[in-house]
This record gives sequence, structure tokens and C-alpha cells, in this order.
Amino acid sequence: MLRCRELQRTLCEGRMQMARLSGRVAIVTGGARGIGRHYSEALAAAGARVMVADIADGRDLADSLNAHLSSDCAASMAFDVSDEDSVRDLVATTLDRFGQIDILVNNAALYSTLPPVKITEIDTALWDKVMAVNVRGPFLMVKHVAPHMIACKSGKIINIASGTAYKGLPNFSHYVTSKGAIVAFTRALSRELGPHNIGVNTLAPGLILSDTGIENTAHIDEARDKVLQSRAFKRDGYPPDLTGALVFLASSESDFMTGQTLAVDGGSINT
Ligand SMILES: NC(=O)c1ccc[n+]([C@@H]2O[C@H](COP(=O)([O-])OP(=O)(O)OC[C@H]3O[C@@H](n4cnc5c(N)ncnc54)[C@H](O)[C@@H]3O)[C@@H](O)[C@H]2O)c1
Repeated sequence: MLRCRELQRTLCEGRMQMARLSGRVAIVTGGARGIGRHYSEALAAAGARVMVADIADGRDLADSLNAHLSSDCAASMAFDVSDEDSVRDLVATTLDRFGQIDILVNNAALYSTLPPVKITEIDTALWDKVMAVNVRGPFLMVKHVAPHMIACKSGKIINIASGTAYKGLPNFSHYVTSKGAIVAFTRALSRELGPHNIGVNTLAPGLILSDTGIENTAHIDEARDKVLQSRAFKRDGYPPDLTGALVFLASSESDFMTGQTLAVDGGSINT
């Protein structure tokens, strides 16, 4: 019920600013669940057609967006961001379905399902898996999406990092390292893709109480208290706190901005 009301509010606000992304096509990785679900909704509400790409099933979200907005504004595909064949299929399917790709949101990651582990106890296979999803995944997405953006001489890539890359977090060194790589990846890409008129920026959320985070993160209460103390705004953050920044980075309003990190965290870190 709450989700339904939230979705209606997002859609209603989006209708007022529909032109911002109308005619654009976006892929949101990890777009079916958690924060990514809100990104998919916000982009569609701002007028984009959205491919909800996730290892989880995104059909209910795509159906709901098609029912509430226009009938062809969303599609979904199950895929594994760490697997190159799967990424190639996703890009081909998106181009078949929507004809273009203007916006890529590299949001999929191993995050909420990771338990805290000391550096001395992290299983090497787990370390490699976190890097495969959180770092190789965004690389594969850019490798296969960028040729289309280069051909169109335009595009927006938004890489989702984390405030933890700036301030560190004990017992999550695999995750924090992967998010630090994303900040560097953005900077490297901005230099390489800038001459093709492709903007590449990082959105770095602080601790966000997403439904998946609350369900799965055992340490959330402890983390929450510490994070609140570090913030200029002494309140919790929720997925809708991020969507304004995401739509801005996806829109032409950010056309002279690239290689930057936008931290949306209630004023915890300064980038
Ligand atoms: N929630 C927070 O406090 C917070 C803070 C900073 C950054 N972030 C980042 O925001 C993003 C979303 O976070 P969230 O809280 O929704 O976390 P989450 O763990 O709930 O979401 C991750 C999403 O990625 C998908 N995914 C996982 N493995 C995949 C794979 N191999 N292929 C395709 N999809 C896969 C999941 O199904 C899910 O939809 C992540 O990049 C996370 O690192 C989250």
C-alpha cells in the first residue's frame, strides 16, 4: 500500500517534469529491487523509456510502469552483470526493443546481502565475486553500451559508488575497495569518452534505508547511529532522497559536468 502511494507520488511529480528525459532510453542495472527500483521509477516518470535489468525479476515493476505511464515506457530483463554474454544480450535486447541507449545507470552491486567480515577472514572467492559484480559489471556495461553512445555522439553514464569509498568502513574492505574503483573508473571514462560528448559521473549515496538494506543488513542499527552523527542533516536517508540527483545527472541540465562525484548523504562527506 505504502509502495503504491510512493509510486503514485513519484509518477505524479515525474509527469510535471516529463519533458526532462522524454525521447531518452535508459538501462538501470539492479533496477528491479532496492534503490535501483526507485531509479527506474524516477527515470520513467521523467519521460525516459527504461530497461529494468537485474538478476532479480523486474517484470512486476515494468508492468506497473507501463500501466501507470505509457504502454511502452518500460521493459525488464533478467541478466547477470558480471557475465559478458549476458551483458551483450541485454544491450542487444534493449536496442531491439527501444532502438537506442542514452542513459546507463551502473547500480547493480553486491551490497545489502554482504555480512561484515574482517579483512583477515574474507574468503578469496568472495573477494573475487564482489569485484566481478561491482567492478567488472560496470566495466562490461560500458564496454558494450559505449559504442552506441559514441555513434550517437551523446550519452550519460552514472556510476553508483558510495560514501564509504571516501570515509572507509571496517569489515567491508571488499565492498569499499570496489566502490573506490568506481570513482576512479568514472574519472578515467570521463577523459576517454568526453571527446564523444558522453558525460560520466558518480553518484555516491550515504547510508540509505532501502527495503533490501533493512531486510538484509544485520549491522544497520549500529551503522545508522554512527552515520547520523556524521551528517549535517541529522536524519535517515531514503531512496527518494537520491532520485533528484540521478535525474539531474541523466538530463541535459548536467551537460557541462563530467568526471565528478555527487555525494547525496545529508552532508556527511565533502567530495
Ligand atoms: N543502501 C545504501 O545504504 C547504499 C549506500 C551507498 C551506495 N549504495 C549502492 O547503491 C546501489 C544499490 O544499493 P541497494 O541498497 O539497493 O542494494 P541491493 O543489494 O539491494 O541492490 C543491488 C541490486 O543489484 C542486483 N544485483 C546483484 N547482483 C547482480 C548481478 N550479478 N547482476 C545483475 N544484478 C545484480 C540486485 O538484485 C539488486 O537489485 C549499490 O550499488 C550499492 O552499492 C547503497
